[in-house]
Amino acid sequence: MIHIEHLTKSFGTRVVLDGFSADITPGEFVCITGPSGAGKSTLMHLMIGQHKPDSGSLVIDDNHIEQMDFDTVQMYRRHIGIVFQDYKLLPNKTVYENVAFALEVCGESLETIHTLVPKALDQVGLLRRQNQYPSELSGGEAQRTAIARALVHNPKMILLDEPTGNLDKTAAKSIVDILRAINEAGTTVIMTTHNSDIIQYIGGRMIVLENGVKTYDGPVKT
Ligand SMILES: Nc1ncnc2c1ncn2[C@@H]1O[C@H](COP(=O)(O)OP(=O)(O)OP(=O)(O)O)[C@@H](O)[C@H]1O
Ligand SMILES: [Mg+2]
Repeated sequence: MIHIEHLTKSFGTRVVLDGFSADITPGEFVCITGPSGAGKSTLMHLMIGQHKPDSGSLVIDDNHIEQMDFDTVQMYRRHIGIVFQDYKLLPNKTVYENVAFALEVCGESLETIHTLVPKALDQVGLLRRQNQYPSELSGGEAQRTAIARALVHNPKMILLDEPTGNLDKTAAKSIVDILRAINEAGTTVIMTTHNSDIIQYIGGRMIVLENGVKTYDGPVKT
């Protein structure tokens, strides 16, 4: 359960997120949309503890994210899947190694890694690309690798910031289909997107941010 109450964040004198509140129940698929600069990425950064809000609270499964110290945030992040633009693939590692690395840093055994990595790659349809390096991948394949890396821990929730941003329609739809399958298997999915076609395609719940203020929260408007 995610309970966000009156979250406010400023950079300098500019209020970027202004009293944002929302509850998200496990298993939901939520699209956060709104114009460029509306505060979507800022909200996502607050949700992973990358920024601290000026006020308000953000409680995920009884954990107050806004009160966590650095080490606790690192531990918390291991339990969620994160696909953000600043979480880049490691260029010197293959697709397989990039996904495996997420488990290695958590101290997982080789046996666990050998079991979980192919499973995650299969979920995103990348088993056949596992030995390629990021520079040898299409944008969609790179994004699917990032999703596999986020999924390999079997998180209860996955957060994605513009996961279809640089992709053509077909690649974007294939990402969304993967996210839908993940969601149908029980994982909460929260993603930001500019793309109204994608939002329509997903259906479900949509939150609109404008100038840091939530202006709509409900079923996708057609
Ligand atoms: N670290 C920062 N320091 C100063 N200002 C920031 C910082 N991060 C974001 N901002 C400002 O906050 C506002 C909201 O940014 P944010 O990235 O959340 O918007 P967004 O809705 O994700 O936009 P986009 O659709 O372009 O990704 C912008 O005006 C941006 O310049
Ligand atoms: Mg953004």
